[in-house]
Amino acid sequence: MKGVFVCVEGLDGSGKSTQAKLLVKKLCKDGYDAVFTAEPSRGKIGRFIRKRLFEQERMCTSVEALLFAADRVEHVQHTIVPALRAGKIVISDRYVYSSLAYQGSAGLSLDWIEAINANAQKPDLSLFIDVSPEIVLKRLKRKKSVMENLQTQRCVQEIYQNYVKKGLFKRVDGSKGRREVLDELYSEVICYLKKVEAKKRDDLV
Ligand code: TYD
Repeated sequence: MKGVFVCVEGLDGSGKSTQAKLLVKKLCKDGYDAVFTAEPSRGKIGRFIRKRLFEQERMCTSVEALLFAADRVEHVQHTIVPALRAGKIVISDRYVYSSLAYQGSAGLSLDWIEAINANAQKPDLSLFIDVSPEIVLKRLKRKKSVMENLQTQRCVQEIYQNYVKKGLFKRVDGSKGRREVLDELYSEVICYLKKVEAKKRDDLV
């Protein structure tokens, strides 16, 4: 693949959607060919999931995980891979780690969630906007989905933080100001791009 695949993760209310969009804007302004995308996707399964998220009763968690994985298959096929083939920087607001964190926090085995997502395109860089559950719940003016309560958010954050500890994520402190968070995300992406460039140069020598 010619492009670079970056996913941005975080709790609901962490500012990740806004930051992911600002990141794309900043990269484009600086001459990079970047595109924004998100999960749940705009495809038919993604639209179905979004409708269900506002309902009172939560779906059976295994069904939830399978639906998110199915939506991801469409998202990868229709949006992510074509953009990567065209050499773009793809910034995805949520990806496989959201399933691990959210459906994992609901009690599903992380191994099983990984297994049903095993064929999904691997991100080149994963960024985690870390904000405490207490702060995000204050920020969320209304309850957006059945996933949003303090206990769930704490559990979700713990799973994300374990991936940070394993070195699978670059952590950005989301309690800082909007500008600082954006600058940090931007420098992580630029740092990754520079590493790729340096490797390409070394391979040529
Ligand atoms: P969110 O990023 O909040 O979408 P938006 O800001 O556009 O409304 O995602 C909606 C919810 O979906 C969020 O609570 C997390 C949940 N989710 C999962 O539980 N598993 C997943 O795999 C994904 C992609 C999202």
